[in-house]
Amino acid sequence: MTSKILVTGGAGYIGSHATLALLQAGFEVVVLDNLCNSSVESLLRIEGICGKSPQFIQGDIRDRGLLDELFSSYRISAVMHFAGLKVVNESVSNPLSYYENNVAGTVTLCQAMASAGIFRLVFSSTANVYGEPAQVPVREDFPTGALTNPYGRSKFMVEQILQDLAMADSRWSIALLRYFNPVGAHSSGLIGEDPNGIPSNLLPYISQVAIGKLKQLSVYGGDYPTVDGTGVRDYIHVVDLAEGHLKALEKISTKAGVNIWNLGTGQGYSVLEMIRAFEQVSGRKVPYQIVDRRPGDIGESWADPMRAEKELGWRAKRGLQQMMADAWRWQSSNPSGYSTCLPQATPDSTKSRTN
Ligand code: NAD
Ligand code: WQD
Repeated sequence: MTSKILVTGGAGYIGSHATLALLQAGFEVVVLDNLCNSSVESLLRIEGICGKSPQFIQGDIRDRGLLDELFSSYRISAVMHFAGLKVVNESVSNPLSYYENNVAGTVTLCQAMASAGIFRLVFSSTANVYGEPAQVPVREDFPTGALTNPYGRSKFMVEQILQDLAMADSRWSIALLRYFNPVGAHSSGLIGEDPNGIPSNLLPYISQVAIGKLKQLSVYGGDYPTVDGTGVRDYIHVVDLAEGHLKALEKISTKAGVNIWNLGTGQGYSVLEMIRAFEQVSGRKVPYQIVDRRPGDIGESWADPMRAEKELGWRAKRGLQQMMADAWRWQSSNPSGYSTCLPQATPDSTKSRTN
């Protein structure tokens, strides 16, 4: 029987790329998403790319009744859990919604999974849990938890909850995937990142400057002890990231307990290097101005990806050039993201339930 995977947050940026990768690998997929930061259009486009579509249920991970109904209707073997809120600034002004969606939502999901007898979980964590690392590259055994914002704390709390859960019940197999900085889009240009309002992450901001939606980029800080004074990060192509999820899923089917893997490339780039690479690929100018540091930012962070390479047989394959080319193809063919599209009929496979 084909294995069915529940993808929470599967209509979102990373979840849609993971859903596509799962379908392409022969899995059946059920997506649960409340569409608070996404559009069902991403799922329709997945069908355009691979000829298959996930089942879609519009609903919330905090809705225990819905989860119980879902687990009794579909034979789910594992859950990839992307659903959550992710904007650092917003988490500072609205911490409760972050703890409610990210922490309480995950607790409800795990309760429903356990009562349905499902114990395989791949969780979207973040390199943010390392705080300001004492050295780079960052390994999985580095200290975590010295965090400066509720978003990062919510992810750290979930990591701890999942560790406790696996300690209490040996049936759980859990992957904590600590993403570095996901960027880019599927090479078809059909799915990509569609942030609400003004983007807070670097690459969507650069893309929107290049397309003329925003005037200029503010480069946060030119006085870090880095190659050119600007912040350095490990940008990873979202398709590489999605492939890492499939490898982790495969691994936890034979490895119990909690497994932690960094998903990064092992290579850092500065903000100015990112601007130059984007200009080269797009042929567009990206005007920028160096301003003060952004509060809470760190100077540099990049992954040691060796554990994932050794244990999962996974490494990021796509370089900076491809990240930029794919980000630009997505942005230039969808200047207003998914909202450029006319409303479309809900696919037959789509169930809908709102809270
Ligand atoms: P996204 O906002 O595009 O996707 C999240 C999806 O979850 C959205 O479709 C949203 O509608 C849905 N959602 C949110 N709360 C929900 C709820 N309570 N019930 C059901 N659905 C809900 O974000 P993304 O960039 O794809 O991130 C996916 C996951 O990866 C998140 O958990 C995020 O914290 C984590 N992560 C993202 C990054 C990044 O830079 N994008 C980095 C590290 C970790
Ligand atoms: C990258 C670099 C900025 C915007 C955050 C979260 C992390 C993860 C990814 C979810 C930094 C600089 C940015 C701009 C700039 N998300 N920058 N001007 O801060 O590494 O990580 O997003 O889990 O958890 O903390 O990513 O893309 O915001 O910034 O100069 O307008 O670009 O200072 O050096 P960050 P980012």
